[in-house]
Amino acid sequence: MRHHFSSRAAGAKRSPIRELLKLTEQPDIISFGGGLPAPETFPHEELAAIAQELLLKEPHNVLQYGTTEGSRTLRTEVAKWLSDQDIHVTLNDLLVTSASQQGLDLICKAFFDPGDVVFCGLPTYLGAVQAFNLFQITKIGVPLEDDGMDIDELESRIVAARREGKRMKGIYVIPDFQNPSGITLSLEKRQRLLEVARAYDLLIFEDNPYGHLRFSGEPIPSIFSMDDEGRTIMLLTFSKVLAAGLRLAVMVARGDLMDVLVRVKQPTDLCTSKLTQMIAARFMQRHGLDRHLAEIRPIYRAKKEAMVAALAKYMPNDEGLRWTNPDGGLFVWVWLPESVDAEEMLPRAIAHKVAYVPGASSYVDGDGQNTMRLAFSLCTLEQIDEGIRRLAEVVTETIASLKAGARS
Ligand SMILES: Cc1ncc(COP(=O)(O)O)c(C=O)c1O
Repeated sequence: MRHHFSSRAAGAKRSPIRELLKLTEQPDIISFGGGLPAPETFPHEELAAIAQELLLKEPHNVLQYGTTEGSRTLRTEVAKWLSDQDIHVTLNDLLVTSASQQGLDLICKAFFDPGDVVFCGLPTYLGAVQAFNLFQITKIGVPLEDDGMDIDELESRIVAARREGKRMKGIYVIPDFQNPSGITLSLEKRQRLLEVARAYDLLIFEDNPYGHLRFSGEPIPSIFSMDDEGRTIMLLTFSKVLAAGLRLAVMVARGDLMDVLVRVKQPTDLCTSKLTQMIAARFMQRHGLDRHLAEIRPIYRAKKEAMVAALAKYMPNDEGLRWTNPDGGLFVWVWLPESVDAEEMLPRAIAHKVAYVPGASSYVDGDGQNTMRLAFSLCTLEQIDEGIRRLAEVVTETIASLKAGARS
């Protein structure tokens, strides 16, 4: 029956890494693999009380279809919340989506024909790459530096793509504590990114699931808030700030950009679940998202600190080995010595009962073999210490066996 598949579906692959990480679901494995939020941050009792109340008192509302744009109550709450952060939007600038992954799907549908170009980080979020692949979009990677995307390199790749007659549509960027690297785009580079986007008439897709999970340092304004031309589309998900299972996010965009997004969402799923929208809206009204965030940030800070402390304590002294120390988010990124292939090392790690995501899958240019992503979000502090101890053993053994192999 495969001959019935569309060409885009025939080309869609399961991520081999996600398949490999299924092995890590065994209970004795300490997994730094999945980028899942810490379950202890879910305010499940408050959400249960709200859900019960909504279902008993407002079934005609919350069990009904809603508008494609999303619940006015939720959009009103989100607009107020954003205005407290100096991001001023009207309800018409907000589209509620079935989480940010749908937002990425809508961006692909609304702005890209097969072969059109998107620029993205090296590395970048694997789920975005999968969406770009499904729509046969050409991905051009741009290296990241310690303060985010190398904007000079971005510009020279834009110029080269233009010379080759490619149709360029936009730049995909995860500005704060990027997935997978934990790297943050500096204020100066946000400004330059906007200048480059303006100069070459590109859109900016600003996907920011982690910005509100900042646990140290000063917040940096969003690209959307710095953009006075309306060429930025911002994606904000509730997955990491409230609960991933609600499958809820908002897209923020102005004018024509918003109009086309609403038009492509309509045939995609008509509307996002009214029930989960109202649960989130009521939570914001009753408890406040900022208050909740203030409670959960220290949980992530403690886990990140435990991870970087354990890396410093256990990892071997090798000049090629370094890692990020993010001010927020869920991830630490590790550069192994050039000779180490993190994907080849993974079976050895699983044998040592520890797992991670090899970084190469996040590079659209086939690079990054010597990198890995460690999520500190899901494990306890004790598991983080023990998991990094095991991982350091694996890294030490791998480096030693590569050196022995090179000598013989
Ligand atoms: C950068 C980025 N974008 C989008 C998503 C998708 O999130 P969701 O669909 O849960 O909103 C994730 C999830 O990990 C992510 O890291």
